[in-house]
Amino acid sequence: MCGITGYIGKREAYPIVIKGLQRLEYRGYDSAGLMLYNQDETSVFKTKGKVVDLEAIVSEENRHGNICIGHTRWATHGVPNDVNSHPHVSNSGDLTIIHNGIIENYDTIKNELVQRGYQFKSDTDTEVLVNLIEEVQIQEKCPIAKAVQLALNDVIGAYAIAVFDKKEPNKLVAAKLGSPLAIGIGENNEEFFIASDASPFIEYTKNAIYLQDEELAVIEKNTAVEVRKIHDDSSVEPEIHALKLNLAQIEKEGFDHFMLKEIYEQPKAIIDTYRGRLLPNEGIIRMAGVEEYIDRFKSANRIIIIACGTSWHAGLVAEYLFEDLARIPVEVEYASEFRYRNPIITEKDVVIAISQSGETADSLAAIKMAKEAGAYVFGVCNVVGSSIARESHSGAYTHAGPEIGVASTKAFTTQITLLTLIALKLGKEKGNLSNSDFHAYLQNMELIPAKLEKILAQNDLIKEIASGFSDTPSCLFLGRGYNFPVALEGALKLKEISYIHAEGYPAAEMKHGPIALIEDDYPVIVVAINKGHYEKVVSNIQEIKSRKGKIIAVVTEGDVTVKEMADYAIEIPEVDEALSPLLTTIPLQLLSYHVAVLRGCNVDQPRNLAKSVTVE
Ligand code: M6R
Repeated sequence: MCGITGYIGKREAYPIVIKGLQRLEYRGYDSAGLMLYNQDETSVFKTKGKVVDLEAIVSEENRHGNICIGHTRWATHGVPNDVNSHPHVSNSGDLTIIHNGIIENYDTIKNELVQRGYQFKSDTDTEVLVNLIEEVQIQEKCPIAKAVQLALNDVIGAYAIAVFDKKEPNKLVAAKLGSPLAIGIGENNEEFFIASDASPFIEYTKNAIYLQDEELAVIEKNTAVEVRKIHDDSSVEPEIHALKLNLAQIEKEGFDHFMLKEIYEQPKAIIDTYRGRLLPNEGIIRMAGVEEYIDRFKSANRIIIIACGTSWHAGLVAEYLFEDLARIPVEVEYASEFRYRNPIITEKDVVIAISQSGETADSLAAIKMAKEAGAYVFGVCNVVGSSIARESHSGAYTHAGPEIGVASTKAFTTQITLLTLIALKLGKEKGNLSNSDFHAYLQNMELIPAKLEKILAQNDLIKEIASGFSDTPSCLFLGRGYNFPVALEGALKLKEISYIHAEGYPAAEMKHGPIALIEDDYPVIVVAINKGHYEKVVSNIQEIKSRKGKIIAVVTEGDVTVKEMADYAIEIPEVDEALSPLLTTIPLQLLSYHVAVLRGCNVDQPRNLAKSVTVE
């Protein structure tokens, strides 16, 4: 939610920040803005809309200066308009701020500031924060860094901020609690970059500090980064990380959209997930994060899976995996419900938190609660060093690489890959899986990427099928067993990027209500592979057919029965039922992608959404 970036150094700052904002646009795209400092003056440009709209309002002659901070917004407080866009400037005009997060007690602070004569132009919590910092600076007669530190001790909420004070123009002050913030360190400390993730500065430096919660950094040109604790101003020795990210990973590389690129990356992403872990020749699965706590896993009364959105769907697949292969009872919880439900958590529970970004506010709060209740928490995250990864007792990264399209694709299949490895490992350790079954699974897992390539090769066919129902206002996705969560995920993918209303259901539930929707040509996408409850799904398809619905079926290669009934069929290679979600998901991703493109939707940046949801 919201991306922030900034530059201080010797180069023209504007192009660096504009490019950085484009890379961070996945975090929110309701509005964009920046502040440039040049010849003792600050200029602020901001507008409702995207970074391209921002570029259009900054004329060539205004694009100069060596200090710039910029923001791309996902609106929380105040509608998306020019005034509510960031940066925000203090009443004196000296201080400028960009902010990702929420100040929960902004209303109380605002009332106090209003009584002291402060005026506000916007409805945002951020304008309150910058004026609070100004008021502290005036009262304490202190430098900007001290004023930021003192002011932040008065606020409740989450933030990643950068503050610039015209009176101390060689520095930026950055601080973090809850929202991510990286600082890129240029050669000889001559220049510095700040950003919500490292993507805005990877072509300039590979050295970065990831601020930790409750830390504040004073970033001074030609000097160094000084990090301090917000609550007591004590000094912290920052850890400098060598970035592994490269430019190709964050560019489209010839694909029309990031989503399509990321769909196509799945064979490699899955290999990256299981590399070094899945060892069929040795007949083992190696996972340090599980092995370290193997007794907790083996003696668990139950596994509670906490996640949101697509990650929650991966959790539902894991429910089938853990119960089926390892015989451990599983509950899958929406993090937002779990954290407010007064749930029963015991020390015998293992909590698995699944999150691509590792920053989802509800998931983070839920695992903190579970930890306090004594549960052991295992994190499944993609973003290395993210809050959920750090907050978990142990965990494993999916290594999917950056996922920039707002719609999750490779994040989902790599989460399932990782969860399958854990379920197989526990199944073996607990003696629920025979040696031969375990070995067969290891070998079959290794075949998944090649099978996935065969599905991707059907892209043209899937595009043609998409054109057959892209104008529908509504449709259903059905699946059973392991493929019920796949149906849910298929429906989520379609609705979030094409704005077609879609629902996922267990196929057998259809006759308890949704069947009423079916009329001539109503599209129903059915996962009907030859494993699990194939015959029962065939009966469900029959029920749709007799009501003249349009059937788009995902079937196993060589299928005859369903193919004869379906209007369209997409074949996937033969696969174990437990591994099938890794394949059946792909046609549904491609169908949604093509439908959305045909409808002229912004596939990578669907309306009202943001990639990482750092507010509850
Ligand atoms: O980063 P997370 O996995 O915690 O995000 C959770 C959801 O916001 C996310 O999965 C969302 O539903 C997808 N981007 C939708 O495609």
